[in-house]
Amino acid sequence: DGAQTFYDAVGGAQTFDDLTSRFYAEVARDEVLRPLYPEDDLEGAERRLRMFLEQYWGGPRTYSDERGHPRLRMRHNPFRIGPLERDAWLRCMHTAIASIGPDRLDDEHRAALVGYMEMAAQSMVNAPM
Ligand code: HEM
Repeated sequence: DGAQTFYDAVGGAQTFDDLTSRFYAEVARDEVLRPLYPEDDLEGAERRLRMFLEQYWGGPRTYSDERGHPRLRMRHNPFRIGPLERDAWLRCMHTAIASIGPDRLDDEHRAALVGYMEMAAQSMVNAPM
C-alpha cells in the first residue's frame, strides 16, 4: 500500500554503503578496535555489517542468504567486548551517522538509528571491563 521501509526512506543502498564505509574508515584508525579485526582485510567485515544493517532496516535479505540467522551476540563471543570496546564502536558509529546529511537522515530517522546502535552495542558486551 505504498508504505515505505526505513531502508528506502533514508536513501537505500547508497546510504548504507556510505554509513559502513565511513564506520570502517574510523575503525581502521581506532587503537582499541583495529586489533580485533583481521590485519590485512577490513572489507569482509564491512560487507557483513552493511548487509546486516540493510536487512535489519527493511532492505535486501542478502545477509541471511549468505550467513543464515544473524545470532550476533554468539558471533561476537570470540572477541572480548567490554565498556571500552563498546564505547569505541559507538564513537565510530556516531561519526559515521553524523556524516550522512539531513537530506537523507531527518531528525526522526537519525534518532531511531542512533537509539538502535546504542541498544545493539550494549547487547554485545560480554566482558566486565
Ligand atoms: C562482526 C566487533 C558491535 C554487527 C564483528 C567482528 C568484530 C566485531 C571484531 C568480526 C569481523 C568480521 O565480520 O569478520 C564488534 C565490537 C562491537 C560490535 C567490538 C562493540 C560493541 C556490533 C553491533 C552490531 C555488529 C552493535 C550490529 C548492529 C556485526 C556483524 C558482524 C560483526 C553483522 C558479522 C557477523 C557475521 O556474519 O559473521 N564485530 N562488534 N557488531 N559485527 Fe560487530
